[in-house]
Amino acid sequence: MGIFLSGDFIEEVRSRNDIVDIISEYVSLKPSGKGLFGLCPFHSEKTPSFNVSPDKQVYYCFGCGAGGNVFTFIMAIEKLDFPEAVKYLAEKAGMALPDTMDSREYALHKDKRDKIHEINREAAKYYRKVLLSPWGEKALSYLKSRGLDDRTIKIFGIGFAPEGWDNIKNYLSDKGYEEELLIQSGIVVESKGRTYDRFRNRIMYPIIRPGGYVIGFGGRVIDDSLPKYLNSSDSPVFNKSSTLYGLNLIKRGQPIEHVIITEGYMDVITLYQYGFKNVVASLGTALTQQQARLLRRYTGEVYIAYDGDKSGQQATLRGLDMLQNAGLKVKVICFPEGMDPDQVLRKFGSRYFKELMDNALSLVDYKLDQLRKQYNFDNVDDRTNYATEAAKILTKVQNLLERDVHIRRLETQTGFSARLLYRQIELLEAKNRQDGVKKHIDGNNRYTGRNRINIEILPVHIKAERYLATLMATDEDYAKKIVGRINTEYFEESITAEIYEIVSGLMKTGKEISIPRVLSYVQDQSKIQQMVEIFEQPIEYDNIDKFISDCLKEVICNRLEKRRQEVKELIEQIEREGNQRTERYNTLVNEMAAIIQKINMNRQGKEGIM
Ligand code: UTP
Ligand code: MN
Repeated sequence: MGIFLSGDFIEEVRSRNDIVDIISEYVSLKPSGKGLFGLCPFHSEKTPSFNVSPDKQVYYCFGCGAGGNVFTFIMAIEKLDFPEAVKYLAEKAGMALPDTMDSREYALHKDKRDKIHEINREAAKYYRKVLLSPWGEKALSYLKSRGLDDRTIKIFGIGFAPEGWDNIKNYLSDKGYEEELLIQSGIVVESKGRTYDRFRNRIMYPIIRPGGYVIGFGGRVIDDSLPKYLNSSDSPVFNKSSTLYGLNLIKRGQPIEHVIITEGYMDVITLYQYGFKNVVASLGTALTQQQARLLRRYTGEVYIAYDGDKSGQQATLRGLDMLQNAGLKVKVICFPEGMDPDQVLRKFGSRYFKELMDNALSLVDYKLDQLRKQYNFDNVDDRTNYATEAAKILTKVQNLLERDVHIRRLETQTGFSARLLYRQIELLEAKNRQDGVKKHIDGNNRYTGRNRINIEILPVHIKAERYLATLMATDEDYAKKIVGRINTEYFEESITAEIYEIVSGLMKTGKEISIPRVLSYVQDQSKIQQMVEIFEQPIEYDNIDKFISDCLKEVICNRLEKRRQEVKELIEQIEREGNQRTERYNTLVNEMAAIIQKINMNRQGKEGIM
């Protein structure tokens, strides 16, 4: 539904919800300097580093880097998605929703989604009824044989899809649902002009979104036939890669210390029955970034509970890095070889499981463990390779004391002296710092700008474009001095380019320009966060006109310099091929001369600005 929220509507909602009022409902704020400070609600701290700016209508935590506007705050604290947060605040301000959002298309789309939710709900009820009927006897006894009690079966809404090709199809058609919608919901399949039930002779696990909407199903066979699990295909309400099974049962509105992530339906269900209630599964796929971010809205720490054999695989490790990069603390539970959480619980009970959790490894320890398994320490080469790889992992350990513990262990294991290992890590760190800037370049050769890069280490032209972006978003007078002098293409970072686009769009329509307003035209949480980080960077100057023109020069020079490089390479290529007599060659040589002249003109009078 996100795409149907217009920037103007969002801005209206924002202007009626002052960020200070909203945040004050959750955090006690005290004035300090230009802003207000309090204890950050997103990480635990004793001295306040959470800052709210009434001017910019943003918040920013100097401790954990959380930042955003009133919408991202509500998303994070109330665990809502963006449209839900807008709706929440609109209602709070007494604004009517549908009138402003409702285009015809939106109404149709919403209508369809509502219908599909309804169909899924009806289907879940049907499957459940069948499970409890004589038709479901075998399935029910299968579930019992797997240790599930009636209560758990009810909580998870488990059901049974009977044998046969058109049971649910007929049931839902009789209720008046159009076949077309049944197909779109994924419950009925269309193939070669025929339609039939997707799920047959399978135990049915409804996939339920927080809020209680049934969005899809997982169906398990009760014998050895294949595939063992069949999931609903993606539909207007179901997107597998952004869904977590079990999320609906996690209680909102209270801090959640940690969430356990498993691989499968049965793991979630058994863990829940054994009292581990904050547990989710990614549905048979590798974890995605969306899932990681979704989890970050609920908790700060995750325990990975994957099958004993699965963990350690590359896809798993990438998934774990992703969780960490989303800002989650990651712990890995180690299971006996070949067992999954469901089996461990049923065989050894919850006390044992709790012990495994207490002994869970930090991500670094886990990676080192996995690494160690690949090498034979009697072999010198292996020891060297292991030490080299381990050093790479240790660059990620920020705490020097912790790092020391690892290094001493590594010294014993490999025979390399601690001093040497320290040197190796420092070398890698120096290299990472150099690559650091490069790594954040996307396919369009733009900085994707990861936060928490210290602005001091950024190249001057990047600093300059960030200053320009901030100034133009702050005030129309500044914006007028910038827009038109350069265009989007001059910005190397995609995030500053986007700020430029929003501001120039606002100017065209004659709308007032301010940081809060600019942010209202962005609906992506991580973009809002990146923008807030840019806007929060302190700017110092004596003369604003001179400052702006210096920044412009820097940005323009950088672009000219890039073009000069391109042209140079093209010219050299033509020369190598001996095609100097072509018109194209002349054009390029002329362009080169013009570029060089422009660069010189720009350089003149430019003093060191930053
Ligand atoms: P598992 O085979 O480990 O599932 O697959 P499980 O939950 O332990 O199943 P039980 O205990 O045998 O009932 C892990 C997850 O991978 C997905 C499912 O989401 C499953 O829960 N999967 C597995 C599929 O989507 N299709 C398959 O054929 C198998
Ligand atoms: Mn299992």
